[in-house]
Amino acid sequence: MSAIELSKPQWSSQKVFILAAVGSAVGLGNIWKFPYIAGENGGGAFVLVYLLCVALIGLPVLMAEIGLGRMGKANSPQAMANLAAEFRASPLWSLVGLSGVLAGVLILSFYTVIAGWAIDYFVESAVGHFRGIQADAIGKHFSDLLANPWALLFWHTVIVLMTVGIVAKGVKGGLEKAVNFMMPLLFFILLVLLGWSASQQSFGESLRFLFAPDFSKLTWEAVLIAMGHAFFTLSIGMGAMMVYGSYLPERHSIPKAAVWIVFADTAVALLAGIIIFTVVFGNGLEPGAGPGLLFQTLPVAFGQMSGGWFWGTLFFFLVVLAALSSAISLIEPAVSWVEQNWRMKRSTATWLLGFLVWLLGIGTVLSFNAWKHVHFLPGKTFFDSLDFITANIMLPLGGMLMAIFMAWVVSDKARQAEFRLPPALDGAFRFDLRAIAPVGVLIVFASNLVSDPY
Ligand code: PHE
Ligand code: NA
Repeated sequence: MSAIELSKPQWSSQKVFILAAVGSAVGLGNIWKFPYIAGENGGGAFVLVYLLCVALIGLPVLMAEIGLGRMGKANSPQAMANLAAEFRASPLWSLVGLSGVLAGVLILSFYTVIAGWAIDYFVESAVGHFRGIQADAIGKHFSDLLANPWALLFWHTVIVLMTVGIVAKGVKGGLEKAVNFMMPLLFFILLVLLGWSASQQSFGESLRFLFAPDFSKLTWEAVLIAMGHAFFTLSIGMGAMMVYGSYLPERHSIPKAAVWIVFADTAVALLAGIIIFTVVFGNGLEPGAGPGLLFQTLPVAFGQMSGGWFWGTLFFFLVVLAALSSAISLIEPAVSWVEQNWRMKRSTATWLLGFLVWLLGIGTVLSFNAWKHVHFLPGKTFFDSLDFITANIMLPLGGMLMAIFMAWVVSDKARQAEFRLPPALDGAFRFDLRAIAPVGVLIVFASNLVSDPY
C-alpha cells in the first residue's frame, strides 16, 4: 500500500464513525473523572457549569474539530497546515495540531495508569474477592493497590501493550472492531445499576447533590475544572476528533454525529455520577474522596446487589474496554503524524510512541506512592500536574483556536458546504465559534489568573 492510501482510510459507514467517536468520548472521563471532580467541587453548581460548557462550547467546538479534520484531510498538524494554506493564513496554525499531539501523549500516560486500576478490579472481582464487600474493606484494597508501585506499573504496562497492539494494526482492523459491540453493553449495565440505585434510600440525596446547585461553593478554579472537563470528556481540543473526522466521508452529516456523541457522553457521565453518589451517601463515604471515588464505591454496590459478582465483573471489564477505545484515540493523532511526517511504518511509530507513554506513565505510578508528596506544579503531584496542564489548559486553548480558525479563517462558503446547516443555525454556529466559545475560555482563564495567581 502506498503512503497516500495508508493516510486515507475511510470509515465504512456513518454508524461506525459515530461508534468510534463515542468510543473516544466515553471513557474514564465519564465514569472515573466526572464523579470525583463533581464530588470535590461541591456537586450541583459544578455540574451545571459543566453542562453549560458542554452545550455552549463543547458541541460547537466538537463540530468544528470534526469539520477541520474532514476539510484538511490529513493528520492534525498537517490538516491545519493544509487549511491555513488554502485560506491564506499563517502556517503557524499547524502548531495547534502539534500541541494536540503532545497533549494526547501526556494524557495517555496517566490514562493508562488509571485504566490499570480498572483492570486490577476486573480481575479481583472475577475471582470473587469483592463478594459482599463493605466500604472499609474496599477502601483498604484500594489504598493497598495505590501503595504498591509494582502492581500499578504492571497494569499500566498491560494497558499500554493492549493500546499499542490495537493501534499498530491500523484503523480498519483495530479501531472499528474494538468499538462496535461494547458501548451499548456499557450503557445497559449502567441502566441496571441505575435501577439498583433507585431502590436505595440515598438515591434522593444523590440526585440533590448532583442537581441542586449551591453557588456559594463555586470557585473560579471549579469553573476552570468544569470547563476543562467539558473538553476532556468530549475528546476535543487535541486533534483526536480531527483525525477521526478526516476518515469521515463527505456525504455524512457532522452536526448529527456531533449531537449523538455529546448526548451519549453526557448520559454516561450523569448515570455514573448518580450511581456513585448513591453509594457515597448510603455508606457515609466522603464525596470529595478524590481519584479513588469510583474504586471505593462501586464494589460496595455490587456487593449488595443480587447477581453482583456477575455485574461487577462485567462492569469493570467494560470500563477497561471504554478506556481502551479512548486510549487508541489519544495516541492516534501522534501516530498518524509521526507515520506521515516522518515516513515511518505505522507499527514502528506506534511502538515508539507507546514506549514514550509507558516511560512518562511511571511518573503517575509514583505520584500515588513514592512521590506522593513531591510537587511539580504548586501543591500538585506529577499526576495532578499533568491532568491540570492538559485538561485545564492545553485542551481549552487548542479547542478555542480551532473555533477561531473555523469561524474567522475558513470562508463562509466552505463552512456552509461542510456542515449544511439551515441558515439560522449556521448563523448561531458561527456566532458561537466567533464569540461565545473563545470569550468563554478566555474569561475562565483570566479569572483564574486574577483570583489564584501562581
Ligand atoms: N474523552 C475521553 C474520556 O472522557 C478522554 C479523551 C480525551 C480521549 C481527549 C481522547 C482525547 O475518557
Ligand atoms: Na468522555
